[in-house]
Amino acid sequence: MAALTENFVQFVEFVAPLFLTDPKGRFMAIDCIENISAYEGTEVTLRGWVYNKRSSGKLQFILLRDGTGIIQCVAFKGNFTAEQFDLLDKLTQESSVQVQGKVRKDSRAPGGYEMDVTGFQVFQLAEDYPITPKEHGTAFLMEHRHLWLRSSRQHAILKIRHEIIKACRDYFDERGFTLVDTPIFTPNACEGTTTLFATEYFDQKAYLTQSGQLYNEATAAAFGKVYCFGPTFRAEKSKTRRHLMEFWMVEPEVAYATLEDTMVLAEGLICFILERVLKRRRAELEVLEREVSILEKVVLPFPRITYDEAVGILRESGSEIQWGGDFGGGDETILSQKFDRPVMVHRYPAQVKAFYMQPDPERPNLALCVDVLASEGYGEIIGGGQRIHDYELLLQRLQAHQLPTEPFQWYLDLRKYGTVPHAGFGMGIERVVAWVCKLDHLRETIAFPRTLYRIYP
Ligand code: 4AD
Ligand code: MG
Repeated sequence: MAALTENFVQFVEFVAPLFLTDPKGRFMAIDCIENISAYEGTEVTLRGWVYNKRSSGKLQFILLRDGTGIIQCVAFKGNFTAEQFDLLDKLTQESSVQVQGKVRKDSRAPGGYEMDVTGFQVFQLAEDYPITPKEHGTAFLMEHRHLWLRSSRQHAILKIRHEIIKACRDYFDERGFTLVDTPIFTPNACEGTTTLFATEYFDQKAYLTQSGQLYNEATAAAFGKVYCFGPTFRAEKSKTRRHLMEFWMVEPEVAYATLEDTMVLAEGLICFILERVLKRRRAELEVLEREVSILEKVVLPFPRITYDEAVGILRESGSEIQWGGDFGGGDETILSQKFDRPVMVHRYPAQVKAFYMQPDPERPNLALCVDVLASEGYGEIIGGGQRIHDYELLLQRLQAHQLPTEPFQWYLDLRKYGTVPHAGFGMGIERVVAWVCKLDHLRETIAFPRTLYRIYP
């Protein structure tokens, strides 16, 4: 333990400054692995965790990760005391270390660079890190999700998720939308009463929001074009790979917009996201072995089919679907395998959709709505459409859906004071991440998934 203490630098010494002094009193830059090329031929200090390690007598090869990348650090026995070299030899997976060294270009190295170690400090020797390079079962990995996030595959997925979220914000911000956050505690059901999470709100009952849409409709009348972006909650009692209890949704809403406008906005968003990820997250897509040529083919315009046409395609493909029924996961998979880009299915029977959908004037039993089904069998990623703007009709629909009118008074008000046609949609971030990364299950698309049987960690 003596060696460990000797090599241990007080934490405070190097969180604050950007420069450190080496043992000879020279200043040294502290930086991240992603910036390593700037230090070719000079020294830099990196801080991170041991990803992997091997030794061959006089050399120790330490794979260091710091969240921005991975680099191989090579330590030569001749440059260290016996005690120091022994400590390097004892480094374990996920031990926290600071490493100083000279950066060398090496075309064979994964990131193109290696580091020749001149000094190091150990913060902690990790003992028995549970996730080893061998294969682990999903249940074990989910139990250790707080640690699993450090592995390169999970890291790549969450980097892509971050890029997708940033792209959504940029898309709407660049098009004159105002971000208006909507509440999480609500008195209203938006997407049906069967998937509500109820909670106490002092002496009242409240629900966790299923969608920010109803509030978006209010803010759209105030700002014209708005979006909200936040967590939404659904008590989905069926165990599927496409459903989480807590997921993030981006929802635009536009005053004076129609169903057609909303479809154009939706396909534009998806293309914008893909272009961004293909441009900025190539390395992560490669880690995931994602076939990018498939994503590159996703260009405008997306095919548009009616619900009627979709039912026809499904029946030809052997589905049991009857006209008037909602599509099951299997139906969505069939439909989305038929196209090389997302397909927009519009005008579903009103009876399978939410109470707020504007009826099609030509066939009032249809709703002016759209679901966007991602390709490669991924199914629904977006749901939206045009909203009822007439007071009387909305009141009727609330009653027909057996919803209490009192909590919706404010929502009805919007139809009394300058009502206009308006439309919008919601896109589930996790569904998009799963598709872009080509994942089997939504549980890997968010850092800490909330699934039917798991709320730990
Ligand atoms: O189709 P949904 O239910 O539509 C709405 O909530 C509308 N109020 C949105 C709007 O028009 N502003 O949900 C929208 C999207 C789905 O297409 C899907 O991507 C995602 O939210 N989603 C889920 N994602 C993960 N887990 C779940 N349980 C999800 N339920 C819906
Ligand atoms: Mg839907």
